[in-house]
Parts: sequence; C-alpha cells; structure tokens
Amino acid sequence: MHLQHANLIKAMIHYESGNPARIQHFLKVHELAALIGTLEGLDEHTQFILETTAILHDIGIPVSIAKYGSYTWKTQESEGPAEAEKLMIESGNFSQEVIQRVKYLIAHHHTYNNISGMDYQILLEADILVNLSESVSKNYKALTHVFRTQTGKSFLHDMYHVNL
Ligand SMILES: [Fe+2]
Repeated sequence: MHLQHANLIKAMIHYESGNPARIQHFLKVHELAALIGTLEGLDEHTQFILETTAILHDIGIPVSIAKYGSYTWKTQESEGPAEAEKLMIESGNFSQEVIQRVKYLIAHHHTYNNISGMDYQILLEADILVNLSESVSKNYKALTHVFRTQTGKSFLHDMYHVNL
C-alpha cells in the first residue's frame, strides 16, 4: 500500500472515531476499488486518485449529521468535498490536481449518469458492491445497470449471483 494512503486511512479512522460501521465501510470500498483498478489495468495516477477517493468518499456523512441531523445522497455530495480537502492537506502532500479530482468524484459519488473516467466508474462499482450487503435501502439493487468493468461484473456475479 502507498504510504500516503496508509496515512490517509489512519486519519480517516480517527475522523470517524467511534463509528466502526462507517470505518469498515470505507475500508471495504477501498479494498474493492484497489482490486478492481489493479485487475482492470489502470495507470498508476488514475489508480492513486481512485484509492484516495475510496478512502474519503463518505466523509460528508458525519458533517451532514452534525449540520442537519441526518444525511442524504445529496448532502453527502455537497458536504463531502470540503472536508476531504482538509484531510488531504492535513495528512499528506497530495497535489492540487489530485485534490481537485477527488473533490469532484466525492461531489458525484451518488450521481449515476454521465460517468466520466475509470476512477469514477470503479468508485461507484466498489461502493455498490459493499452497499448491496450493508444497506437495507432497495436503491442499491436498482443500480446493477451501472456496472461496466468485467471485474466489477464478475464480483457482482460471484457475491450476489447477479448476472449482467
Ligand atoms: Fe459508501
């Protein structure tokens, strides 16, 4: 694992202190995103952005709860990017270009149309794969059409017996 990501994971575990469910969620999403990205042959830079985003993607949840008492897909997207930027700046020297792309992806991680880039695509696939077993929401079951990568589709089949 990249040292920057190890440090970011440590910072995110601290950020989500007291919430093992959310901590284990992002750890799983990161693992699957890293795996799919590697098996799909992503270039190093795109893989780096994908993994950074996977670690931080749900950072908007605690800040939404603090501000509004609850969270939705929309508030996660609106509240997440600024918090993610703070954590990236605090925990390691992420370039401005990486920070901007990660913020964009977090601002769109529950937007399932106009998916641009393999980092965006694989982030969604990894998050859906985890949410299908964690979430009681039926919304995720309707999202299997989002899958594009062969690796993501094979995991969807092997984990949930969904055939695409
Ligand atoms: Fe998530």
